[in-house]
Amino acid sequence: MEAKRRIEELTRLLNEHAHRYYVLDDPIISDGEYDRIFQELLALEDAYPALAGKDSPTRRVGGAPLEKFDQVIHRLPMLSLENGFSDSDLESFSERIHRFLSQPVETGYSAEPKLDGLAVELVYDRGKLVQGSTRGDGITGEDITLQLRSISAIPLSLRSVYPELLEVRGEVYMEKAGLLHLNAKQSAKGLQPFANPRNAAAGSLRQLDPAVTAERPLRFFAYGVANPAATACKTQTDLLAGLKQMGFPVCSYAAFCPTMEAVIEHYRTLAEIRHTLPYDIDGMVVKVDEFSLQERLGAKSRAPRWAIARKFPATQATTKLLKVDFQVGRTGAITPVALLEPVAIDGAMVSRATLHNQDEFLRKDLRLGDTVLVQRAGDVIPEVVKPITEIRDGTELPVTMPASCPSCGTELVKPDDEAVTRCLNSLCPAQRLRTLIHYSSKAGLDIEGLGKKCVEQLYERGLILTIPDIYKLDRDRLKNLDGWGEKSADNVLAAIEQAKKPALSRFLSALGIRFIGEINASLLETHFGSLAQLRQAAKEELLEIDGIGEQAAESLSAYFSSSQVTDMLSELEKAGVHPVILEQSGTGQVLSGLVFLFTGSLTHLSRDEAKKLVKEHGGQIASSVTGKVTHVVAGEKAGSKLHKAEESGKTVLTEEQFLALLG
Ligand code: IVH
Repeated sequence: MEAKRRIEELTRLLNEHAHRYYVLDDPIISDGEYDRIFQELLALEDAYPALAGKDSPTRRVGGAPLEKFDQVIHRLPMLSLENGFSDSDLESFSERIHRFLSQPVETGYSAEPKLDGLAVELVYDRGKLVQGSTRGDGITGEDITLQLRSISAIPLSLRSVYPELLEVRGEVYMEKAGLLHLNAKQSAKGLQPFANPRNAAAGSLRQLDPAVTAERPLRFFAYGVANPAATACKTQTDLLAGLKQMGFPVCSYAAFCPTMEAVIEHYRTLAEIRHTLPYDIDGMVVKVDEFSLQERLGAKSRAPRWAIARKFPATQATTKLLKVDFQVGRTGAITPVALLEPVAIDGAMVSRATLHNQDEFLRKDLRLGDTVLVQRAGDVIPEVVKPITEIRDGTELPVTMPASCPSCGTELVKPDDEAVTRCLNSLCPAQRLRTLIHYSSKAGLDIEGLGKKCVEQLYERGLILTIPDIYKLDRDRLKNLDGWGEKSADNVLAAIEQAKKPALSRFLSALGIRFIGEINASLLETHFGSLAQLRQAAKEELLEIDGIGEQAAESLSAYFSSSQVTDMLSELEKAGVHPVILEQSGTGQVLSGLVFLFTGSLTHLSRDEAKKLVKEHGGQIASSVTGKVTHVVAGEKAGSKLHKAEESGKTVLTEEQFLALLG
């Protein structure tokens, strides 16, 4: 059939030209010619809709606008990177690895530009793009498949050899020229321009209507996969080449560096050429090249041990200090914040900057009216570096730390060994508000529709003063508030209803207990399995948990013994809030239900590697011989713990037997 053949031919041509343009950076036709072929294909597909392929280049844009983004749980977490700010940070990185592996890295590093856009994951099932998502918190992201499909640089079908399941990770970004173009269009429409390419890329991807995303000049570079073992590649350098073969654009400034000296050399090159590149980069990512070494090195809680980001130095500017505000945080910490005459730094307008804490603030001896040096590094909060004292004219006015809390008037306290000044009044309105904001925020229970602004409004109206109040909100009161209506009231109430069965770890970190963040909260969840058990735990038992330190244990026991907290928890219970233990995705894994204790020195694995293996296979770790322990792995020179384990009749394994257990 003539039409069928022509459609196939045009599809092939368009894909080929897009590949030359985005991946090979070597186009051989003009945009106009490409467009003519595109129009011919469109017309044919219109005439013969049944013949249009699902992955036709004309089908990139499609699908109705979404109501909201669905959540996607990444099969393997998307970790972040540790930051380094100097050559010596890179040296320490390689020394750390050397120590961990008990051998130096002899097979080199991959040193790649750190692209300043947004991390995404693209899932290919048998070579077809089936899902795309944002990084989110690394565990859960948002489903932006339709938005990503509209980016021409992202292949819908793979070329050459690919594994059955491929989860590609990379960066969606906007070129500097693309931003200029987009901002010109924004201004013409009377809309606010984007401050920098990164914001523009983020704003464009998070459009519920994929047709809007399609009009934005977004690009993509692939830099990794979730599971290198699924590919035939042995090194990151091979992988980047492999990704290119499969049809992904890969940044051409990634370099294989045999030694750390070569890595540092490559950093110098990148720092020199960064401003000549068509896109923004904010540093360089260094990765141990060999995957087998990466695997041995594993990851800490948030970042792999085998990689580090060497950031470019912060960008600085001077401006006037107008005022200093003293903010009261969730735990009562007072943070001085500088209000500045707005100044552009690295593309973003800065009008507030942190002064960190009392010590830092006093050390800087700031005066109102001072010209101050402000710096901004990547996405961290801008900070005031110092006043430019040389140009003071005598009209500047001193600023001092307040003696009492700006919110409740209670006298502030500064423990000698801490840099932070605190308000210790647990009923302080500012702290309570912060606690409420935290509880429903993304770092807490992530209650949709109950963001910062909204909590502030409800707090000011006296509708929520404590966490249990959230669960008592009344539909009629809500819908009549300024800016609300029936729909928003119903949506928020539905989200609150959902927040009645939070995962225990999430709930614990949402409460905002000092020193109990996400990581400690999940250690507690694993160890205790229920809120009731945790509440009964004595400080000594808390300290037995690997990873829970003195401060966290102290803070927890103080928290749970407070009568205010007891009342609040029972009110929550009455309101129907019951934290649950989410089924571990690992059930059915070989070690699920088993609790391991390691003692003595291991020969094949480091302690951390061994513990990681246990967790990966669904087991749990203990640090002392308690009733929960099911298996003890005894290495060389195992001492009292082994003794105790034998006495209490635990199963004792050698390291080899342990490894055999994992198959
Ligand atoms: S590797 C576990 N390579 O940096 C390794 N990340 O904090 C994690 N990024 O937002 C990522 N360029 O999107 C890697 N060449 C590169 C990168 C890169 C930019 C971003 C990444 C994430 C952040 C990691």
